[in-house]
Amino acid sequence: MPNTTFSLHSPLDMHIHFREGAMLRRVAPLSAETFAGGVIMPNLVPPVDNQVRLDRYDREVREVVEPLAFEPYMTLFMRPYTESELASMKDRIIGVKLYPEGVTTHSEQGVGDLGDVEDTLDLMQDLGIRLMVHGESTDFVMDRERAFLPVYENLARRFPRLHIVMEHITTREAAALLDRHENLSATVTLQHLLITLDDVAGGLLNPHLFCKPIAKRPEDRDALLALALDAHPGLVFGSDSAPHPVDKKECAGCAAGVFTAPIALQMLVGLFEEHGALDRLQAFVSDNAKRIYDVDPPAKTVVFAKTGAAIPERYGDVVPMYAGRDLEWKVAEVR
Ligand code: NCD
Ligand code: ZN
Repeated sequence: MPNTTFSLHSPLDMHIHFREGAMLRRVAPLSAETFAGGVIMPNLVPPVDNQVRLDRYDREVREVVEPLAFEPYMTLFMRPYTESELASMKDRIIGVKLYPEGVTTHSEQGVGDLGDVEDTLDLMQDLGIRLMVHGESTDFVMDRERAFLPVYENLARRFPRLHIVMEHITTREAAALLDRHENLSATVTLQHLLITLDDVAGGLLNPHLFCKPIAKRPEDRDALLALALDAHPGLVFGSDSAPHPVDKKECAGCAAGVFTAPIALQMLVGLFEEHGALDRLQAFVSDNAKRIYDVDPPAKTVVFAKTGAAIPERYGDVVPMYAGRDLEWKVAEVR
């Protein structure tokens, strides 16, 4: 008998863009409906990089997801911080996110020279504050993640007590680093388990699949998928769901970001089922993250039914990945 229902307990999205204001109100409830928690990225304009901004953003997010059982794990945008700043915000954040200057959406105030934040990294290691990294250089677009890997290795060696998260990995070489350094873990998105550059730009250009880091080669996608299906203990799901209004996607100068929040879990259930790995999905979307990040999200059970549903064309002015396509699994109940 094929499975017709499937349940996940307290799924977590360990990399998500909620934005603020009207966009936050539109997208955050879509995540909070099914996920029990998520890591909220700080690349707002201006970035979340001080106590006032953090308090305000934390409050705004909590007000929007209320009364759904969803724990927002807040992050700070990397800049040189003092010890007292870090000490006062330490208990309010799950980590500090490092964006190299200019590599992605709203990273203009990112770090230009890693030397500028060495002292901050030292303090973070001492205070037990996690580092999350957008690991791309400014080389040729397909090589940016590979070119950044030596930076990860240097950081991992120089700061052996610092937990470093390689965010949204897209290459098999990045995946291989997981087995080389105990203090490195990684997130991976839905799209990077499914697509390659061909899906983005091999035929007609698909702006809704354009994100940073750009999707890579089939062998990269396959290596990431193999690790996810195996629920590698150093890998967790982080959608990197990154909504942009449709006029910023369907235009010249398309913004980077794929919006997957409302369909990610349903698609993952389909993907893991297709590969006979449904028994590993709980670890990939929750248990690994609970262990690696030492979090205890609210209890929530999401029941999926194999009854099919169409992916909406739009959520307000945001177009989701695979808009209009059929989903095999839908969310039948959340309790
Ligand atoms: C993200 C965004 O839109 O904020 N875009 C993206 O392509 N992933 C930023 C990021 O995570 O790089
Ligand atoms: Zn992101």
